Amino acid sequence: MDAPSPSDSDPLWWRSAVIYQLYIRSFADGDGDGTGDLAGVRGRLDYLKQLGVDALWFTPWYASPLADGGYDVSDYRQIHPAFGGIDEAEALIREALELGIRTIIDVVPNHVSSEHEWFRAALEAGPGSPERDRFWFVDEPPNRWVSNFQGETWTQVPDEHGPDGQWYLHLFTPEQPDLNWNHPDVRREHEDVLRFWFDRGVAGVRIDSAALLVKDPLLPDVTGAEPAGGHPNTDRDEVHDIYRSWRSVADEYPGTRVLVGEVWMPDPVRFTNYLRPDEMHTAFNFDFMTRPWRGAELRESIDSMLVAHAPVGAPSTWVLSNHDVTRAVTRYGRDDSSFAFASKRFGIPTDLDLGTRRARAAALLTAALPGSLYVYQGDELGLPEVEDLPEGSRQDPMHFRSNGVDPGRDGCRVPLPWAGDRQPYGFSPGDTSPWLPQPDSWASFTVEREAADPGSMLSLYRAALRIRRTLAGDESLAWLDSDPDVLCFTRGSRFVNVTNLSDRPIDLPEHRELLLSSAPLADGRLPTDATAWLRT
Ligand code: GLC
Repeated sequence: MDAPSPSDSDPLWWRSAVIYQLYIRSFADGDGDGTGDLAGVRGRLDYLKQLGVDALWFTPWYASPLADGGYDVSDYRQIHPAFGGIDEAEALIREALELGIRTIIDVVPNHVSSEHEWFRAALEAGPGSPERDRFWFVDEPPNRWVSNFQGETWTQVPDEHGPDGQWYLHLFTPEQPDLNWNHPDVRREHEDVLRFWFDRGVAGVRIDSAALLVKDPLLPDVTGAEPAGGHPNTDRDEVHDIYRSWRSVADEYPGTRVLVGEVWMPDPVRFTNYLRPDEMHTAFNFDFMTRPWRGAELRESIDSMLVAHAPVGAPSTWVLSNHDVTRAVTRYGRDDSSFAFASKRFGIPTDLDLGTRRARAAALLTAALPGSLYVYQGDELGLPEVEDLPEGSRQDPMHFRSNGVDPGRDGCRVPLPWAGDRQPYGFSPGDTSPWLPQPDSWASFTVEREAADPGSMLSLYRAALRIRRTLAGDESLAWLDSDPDVLCFTRGSRFVNVTNLSDRPIDLPEHRELLLSSAPLADGRLPTDATAWLRT
């Protein structure tokens, strides 16, 4: 096969890479049906090149009923027809590589879609069949596990399949039945899927819900008193065997094919266990993202992550947002208490000017830290969360399963504005309405406008990613003495980051050249909620 192959000239590319998270449905629509697609991405590769990213991470682009935005995969070897086809995916991978941009895809091993052929076969074949052994079918719900999307985790086989009385497990929605990872077919199939995509030139995989795969076969209730590694459905010690095998698959290929885990794990040691040298390369650091905008909090988060990663030799990752959380400019425009996990609700008071200043400062701060950096599409434009989506347009099961209390995740998934002054803002070639409506106020956020404005978020990101490249070789960080509300550190001998979270302007260290700042200096001083980058 004439597959593109990420070169092995730089096996350490992933340690300091800037990875752009591409939510394909909402990036750019090439064929004019109101849904983003591969053609749309191929037409905008220059934009991504100019932004200065090293890799693209595509959220699931496979065949799927889209019951959970594509995290319900019905066929791993097909692209969703609304997005394109396999040939086009290969062409995209190749074209991106020609620009020096690698491709990372999302794999969702904990569950499949209820439309996946395995699950359909399991329903057809009935109780006691080998087909059912690939999932968790039981005669009675054996526990009261709570879904990650609220509500029940056990659903009874639907009547149309003949009411055989059995129930199946789903940690997410009923359209996402959990796989049984004790079954050899499940293990073999996923290794084949990895090879299928590595053969097509992808440079890595992002592993969805990576800590959930293995379940205690006795399916006991969660008591809260489980020892580390003994939780019935999360972070069980046996899960690491899976990633050891995946690492051997990845290591069969030239160049580094990177494994990136989605591991929500408060305990830093349990977290970095996934990053041992024969397991994943990196995992998302979500701690930083969940901290409120306070100097001591952020510094503590940075330090604890750097300390936790040191023994395993893996670099940390830095993430300001993603397709599951409230947009950064909105979050940082809120009171501290809204950073608590699961606090999402309607009507939280928000100051978007404040949030934007802080998100700009945070963008520079995270870009200055050693490790890899994730940029969620639209954050480079400073898009706010869309909180007033019209009734009837929301799609996220999280919203529905909370009975409408949680706004869900649609507000951070609204299609990008590219140009013009009204919907679809260049997202689609014609006038088609996008799959999620864009706000009337988005003319000021278009790529066209921001590219022409040196003070825009986009201009800040472009400049920051350009300068960041010069820091890549050096993974050290040294704090300089400062007020606890000022985050001041060096990278290497020449670069200094100063982030001011105090309530007054501060003097910058002397004899340094200002490279970039997230807000204009006033009389040479750095204002509140701003970051400056300096060079000796
Ligand atoms: C991950 C994804 C999220 C998805 C869930 C279930 O957390 O990021 O979007 O809904 O897994 O697959």
